[in-house]
Amino acid sequence: MTRYPVLIGGEEVFGQATFVDLDPSTGRELAEVARGGPAEIDAAVQAARETLERTWRRTRTSERARILRRISELIRRDRDVLADLESLDTGKPLRQARGDADVAARYFEFYASAIETLYGDTIPIDSDVFIYTTREPYGVTAHIIPWNYPLQIGARTVAPALAAGNCCVLKPAEEAPLTAIHLGRLGLEAGLPPGALNVVPGFGEEAGAALAAHPGIDHLSFTGSVEVGKLVSKAAAEHVTPVTLELGGKSPNVVFADADIEAAMPVLVNSIIQNAGQTCSAGSRLLVEESAHDRVVGELVDRFQQLSLGPGRSDPDLGPLISATQLERVSSYVELGKTEARAVTGGGPPPGDSLKGGYFFMPTVFDDVPPAAVIAQEEIFGPVVAVTPFADLDEAAQLANGTDYGLVAAVWTRNVNTAHVVAREIRAGQVFVNTYGASGGPEMPFGGVKRSGHGREKGLEGLLEFTQVKTVAMKLDPGTA
Ligand code: NAI
Ligand code: MG
Repeated sequence: MTRYPVLIGGEEVFGQATFVDLDPSTGRELAEVARGGPAEIDAAVQAARETLERTWRRTRTSERARILRRISELIRRDRDVLADLESLDTGKPLRQARGDADVAARYFEFYASAIETLYGDTIPIDSDVFIYTTREPYGVTAHIIPWNYPLQIGARTVAPALAAGNCCVLKPAEEAPLTAIHLGRLGLEAGLPPGALNVVPGFGEEAGAALAAHPGIDHLSFTGSVEVGKLVSKAAAEHVTPVTLELGGKSPNVVFADADIEAAMPVLVNSIIQNAGQTCSAGSRLLVEESAHDRVVGELVDRFQQLSLGPGRSDPDLGPLISATQLERVSSYVELGKTEARAVTGGGPPPGDSLKGGYFFMPTVFDDVPPAAVIAQEEIFGPVVAVTPFADLDEAAQLANGTDYGLVAAVWTRNVNTAHVVAREIRAGQVFVNTYGASGGPEMPFGGVKRSGHGREKGLEGLLEFTQVKTVAMKLDPGTA
């Protein structure tokens, strides 16, 4: 079994404690990974602090940008290695893993460019006073990421932080830590000073909790469950550390009868089956205008029944879920769902023995789901879509907004007014019209409202998130003019 280290201050540390990382396609052991705990977190925060003060915060932006561009080149060089590793570790189909590597490269490229054009303001309120603002890095930034898109989310959060001059401690999830460690190695190869990007794999309650509670961090970014998001916020509040939270959703596709349904269908399907439904921005609710309901559900079921399941590296439509725990979680939601609504296809693990050992679940459609049903309200994080019909625009908007979440939404219509009215009414961080997808587009600000979280990632907003404004005001001597 390959062994993977903790990366602290440019050193690879194996240590005594380790944990076993599993291949979700088979349930077999994949790698042995160093199990970071409070001591490793403390060492990583110190290494980040030293590098910050010694060099990184003062390194010219053009030089920081050059190194970030080099990281994106190395990600491209290692595209197949990274995609293969990501596919093995998470179970995701190979072509999706390749796409993740491409997007990861784009984050470093985009933030390299963005930092070179980020300037402050001057504020001309008085001819006797010269006032200007500068944007400074926070300092040491902590990044706790989940297992669903480790490479992509890792890049999404550390690229802007590094660009802005922060030094990072990245804590990947215990279920899928491998590509984050590889990314740390590429950072060093690209010329990041040792200690600018530390990677500490480990368990949430150990390494994650120690990082969130560490008094030496100046900013915390967390992507994961609402439950843990609340825990890390409380821990960070103890030291008045600012927090960015990305906590998933229950995002609706809102389909009007006048939409181009033929064009919509593959996108609607992909929005929920991509990554086997384990996507924060998954289109897990399908709201359909009554007159189009039978057609849309009929076509959806047809398409779901043609989807292939298999190990990620065989590049199927759907790989497995990440773990036995996640399979159990999705199964129990689906069993509950059968008491709330009608499962019209799927509804359990695939029959037969061919995929035995892996954590597979069949793509599942629930029809006529009452809006208050648990499966219409809670994030299932599996390939399960809840369909609810609506009568008119008002009801569509009301249903779309009728959960605790607000990450992404899409409206499908040929009527421009309907599109803009729904986009205005929906409470979500991103709204798509006649398309769906947050995975690409590093340029587009992304993040939630309500329980989906706060703060923005991606785009220029995602860079500003890692800076603090300083205002300088200087009284001029009028006599020397
Ligand atoms: P989780 O929230 O436990 O894991 C996310 C990250 O937080 C991992 O790195 C984990 O090690 C860390 N973590 C766990 N406990 C921690 C603690 N006490 N202090 C600090 N860090 C901690 O998510 P989990 O349990 O893997 O998945 C449960 C559900 O969460 C999923 O079914 C899904 O609904 C949601 N989720 C949402 C994600 C998103 O993209 N927004 C990603 C992963 C999960
Ligand atoms: Mg794994």
